[in-house]
Amino acid sequence: MSKVIVTDHPLIQHKLTLMRKVTTGSKDFRELLTEISMLMGYEVTRNLPLEETEIETPIVKTKSKVIAGKKLGIVPILRAGLGMVEGFVTLVPSARVGHVGLYRDPETLKPVEYYCKLPQDIEEREMIIVDPMLATGGSAIAAIDVLKEKGAKNIKLVNLVAAPEGIAEVQKYHNDVDIYVASIDEKLNDHGYIVPGLGDAGDRIFGTK
Ligand code: URA
Repeated sequence: MSKVIVTDHPLIQHKLTLMRKVTTGSKDFRELLTEISMLMGYEVTRNLPLEETEIETPIVKTKSKVIAGKKLGIVPILRAGLGMVEGFVTLVPSARVGHVGLYRDPETLKPVEYYCKLPQDIEEREMIIVDPMLATGGSAIAAIDVLKEKGAKNIKLVNLVAAPEGIAEVQKYHNDVDIYVASIDEKLNDHGYIVPGLGDAGDRIFGTK
């Protein structure tokens, strides 16, 4: 069974509280999301493999550690996932960024892929799917499906706020994918919003309604 890691660092929890407040505007919301993404990225990258390389300090030649091999692939689910990219690429500037766009078919209510552009070598990279909200799990499951179809072998899912229902659903279909969240909230309401949540993350990032 995959792991669910709640990144409960006090700074993350404090910043998430500010994001939840209805009075927080788009500018602050975006900045806070970037800051939390960096802090979560620190945890998500904790087990990246290292290798030794020879370097020269001003004093001596020595061996020192660097991250081994191909670096990360970050994949935001459009559109709210875009708000988490800057934090991750600030931490790992060599990360490649793919994009997956999904919409919900009004009749079947199933997510349908409308856009997909991924780095070529995703089978060699640790792929990190980012989306602030894990609600029903439908989009996350579909995005993981897409990455696996294209050859990804090592996938992590990073969400800011998750509903228990969404976590259970992702684990049902993809129990090899670890899920990192800043909070597991109470539930989904009848409209598919997370309670207490923070509203529509895409609208709050981009100032739309
Ligand atoms: N997507 C959001 O942006 N917010 C929710 O609460 C659920 C899904």
